Amino acid sequence: MTVHTPKPHDAGPLHVTGAARYTDDIPTPTGTLHLAFGLSSIARGTITTLDLAPVLAAPGVVAVLTADDLPYDNDVSPSNHDEPLLAKQTVHYVGQPVFLVVAESHLQARHAARLAKIDYVEETPLLTIEDALAADSRFEDGPRVYLKGDAGEALKGAAHRLQNSFEIGGQEHFYLEGHAALALPQEDGDMVVHASSQHPTEIQHKVAEALGVPMNAVRVEVRRMGGGFGGKESQGNALCVACAVAARLTRKPCKMRYDRDDDMIVTGKRHEFRIDYDVGFDDDGRVTGLTFEQFARCGWAQDLSLPVADRAMLHADNAYHLEHVRIISHRLKTNTQSNTAFRGFGGPQGMVGIERVMDEIAHALGKDPLDVRRLNFYAAASVADEASGGDILKHGKAPNKDNADLASRGATETGQRVKVYQKPGGQTTPYGMEVTDFILHEMTDQLVEESDYHARRQKVAIWNERNPVLKRGLALSPVKFGISFTLTHLNQAGALVHVYQDGSIHLNHGGTEMGQGLFTKVAQVAAHEFGVSLDAVKITATDTGKVPNTSATAASSGSDLNGMAVKAACEEIKDRIALFLAGQYQTDPSKVRFQRGAVNVAGDTIPFQKAIELAYTHRVSLSATGFYATPDVAWDRIKGHGRPFFYFAYGAAVTEVVIDTLTGENRILRADILHDAGRSLNPALDIGQIEGGYVQGAGWLTMEELVWDAKGNLRTHAPSTYKIPCASDRPEVFNVSLWDGENRSETIYRSKAVGEPPLMLGISAWLALSDAISACGDDYPNLDAPATPERIAMACARLRS
Ligand code: MTE
Ligand code: MOS
Repeated sequence: MTVHTPKPHDAGPLHVTGAARYTDDIPTPTGTLHLAFGLSSIARGTITTLDLAPVLAAPGVVAVLTADDLPYDNDVSPSNHDEPLLAKQTVHYVGQPVFLVVAESHLQARHAARLAKIDYVEETPLLTIEDALAADSRFEDGPRVYLKGDAGEALKGAAHRLQNSFEIGGQEHFYLEGHAALALPQEDGDMVVHASSQHPTEIQHKVAEALGVPMNAVRVEVRRMGGGFGGKESQGNALCVACAVAARLTRKPCKMRYDRDDDMIVTGKRHEFRIDYDVGFDDDGRVTGLTFEQFARCGWAQDLSLPVADRAMLHADNAYHLEHVRIISHRLKTNTQSNTAFRGFGGPQGMVGIERVMDEIAHALGKDPLDVRRLNFYAAASVADEASGGDILKHGKAPNKDNADLASRGATETGQRVKVYQKPGGQTTPYGMEVTDFILHEMTDQLVEESDYHARRQKVAIWNERNPVLKRGLALSPVKFGISFTLTHLNQAGALVHVYQDGSIHLNHGGTEMGQGLFTKVAQVAAHEFGVSLDAVKITATDTGKVPNTSATAASSGSDLNGMAVKAACEEIKDRIALFLAGQYQTDPSKVRFQRGAVNVAGDTIPFQKAIELAYTHRVSLSATGFYATPDVAWDRIKGHGRPFFYFAYGAAVTEVVIDTLTGENRILRADILHDAGRSLNPALDIGQIEGGYVQGAGWLTMEELVWDAKGNLRTHAPSTYKIPCASDRPEVFNVSLWDGENRSETIYRSKAVGEPPLMLGISAWLALSDAISACGDDYPNLDAPATPERIAMACARLRS
């Protein structure tokens, strides 16, 4: 069987030997020119003089372009038309591209880009959330609000009430391969673009716009990225448009690659948030009323900020059923990089908010935070076995133990009997979507046991009694993450499959490979459908000329969408072959089987290759497209109501940390994770996603710190000042298991999306640090993120004083 098995990443050997070809590795034609942007050195103001003579005079420089030299649309935004490729007089952040140098070599372009003499009239930049609020600088007229029940009344009547506020820092994507693009001019004004992009169709669209040609004159190819993490959904537009415009002008191939500092200074990052909360709860810790006010720092242009901020609102409940809740979201415009997609797409920030609330409630009541979390969980969805009397469970409501037990049994035995999933009674999210697939009760039970949570909490308490300086902390946090693009029409995908006359298969689809293993998974689907081994399937570069109108590979939906599209294309070809062979053998086409490298028909076993040869010589078409559109999703983002997600993916993590309370230095000692990938298409790749996601999430909340100075210069623009987790920061004990239950929604072979959700498992590391600090005194630690050693040391000192 090729699916549900741990196949290695198809390009693994190429990655480790350095033979994998990235955009910058593509051999370039003679005469290729190299580009670099000249950047704004101020955060806000107007350019009064732009003297480019020294740039033009520099060695190797062929041309220098400004906004005035761009023939058509100068916009590189994903949709809002507010992002000129090159600044038109006004500049909005330090690092904004102002002019474009075209030179004979990469280094010459970069050197020349520094030689311009630019005078500005400076204005006071709006850098922080507070600056933007004071100036009422925002996208959209006012805040967005989701309402459910009556939070105001519930808060007034609450037995206990807490109000607090905290900050969550942003995050640099730090993909190993920086942004890169190569434009190759073709005959008759056509353009071929190679890009490091999660969104080839958008590149095609923006390049066509900038050249003033229809989309059919532009072809974009992406073989792979060395990581994208959301940072290559829209932020690659600028390089591709720049290369295409320069290639058109010079009639030469043009190439551009940001060096690491430029990549960090020019491109947007994860949105910084401030979250204010006002929560009411009863003596047990059950939330009775809650208001969240989320403040997102979006940067200077809109980019994807609105849907990112929406997703933060959509995850403000995380795993908890809230009856009376008000979620307010401010999308603030500042003179900083235009923040963009980053793994989780705002969801993580929303989720950190409610996890912080759960933690503080538990602290206020002196309870184990896990008990408070479980008390507030959504009710379990129950699973009944058709044979063993589903009746008992009809209208299953509360998180009732019997239901939960049955549910876990049902969910762990896969595929044997028909299952009937019972909906819990009418529990909805703050945005009105019913939660019918909640499995965190069973998952938490299993994780608590496997991680030995309760015994270890006691051990941590004993350790903390005995040790004055080193304190330990332990925390369990759950994840419930909505799968689908919230912009409903993006939930579609296409595929193109050819079977050649020798039986080899050529596979193409709209998804892009960024290291996550999408190509391997999708090839497994094709191999499984045709019943052949994985090496019969050639995975080919994403190409707008093969599959059109694709969505970004994002929202974790790559394998859900493209897997289904590929399956549809394979089925089409199989149907044609079956029809043909059934005719030859005078049998029913539905009885033709593709398995174990052969086609079975009327008792005959024809080797796959032979069957294909037969079909070819009998003039059967062996090429097909496939298409898929996710069913059952509908969302009104203005009303904040509907069913934005096809289903939820779940997970939970227990993290144990130790801190030095004098210096704030800390380590993750152990992490135990149980994650739901449905019936995993590929357990090896899924576990890789979970490990990487966890570490990236923990890095975001504990060590990765972006610092801007008072003039808006990003001071952390290289690995020397920006600290990402390294291999040695991996937990010393790192246990990752997959929850073995099928997706209740009809996804590709009942698997679940796995790309983004595990990032949020890293929240448990931040909570564990807070738990360790709380051993220093009675107050709540009030820890902001990232919990850097400085913040930890200061929080310990505060608690002790
Ligand atoms: N894994 C690797 N190795 N590299 C990446 O860039 N991006 C993440 C996630 N996992 C990423 C990754 C993000 S932001 C998303 S949306 C998904 O992969 C996209 O791929 P998928 O939809 O195929 O899961
Ligand atoms: Mo992922 S942030 O949806 O590219």
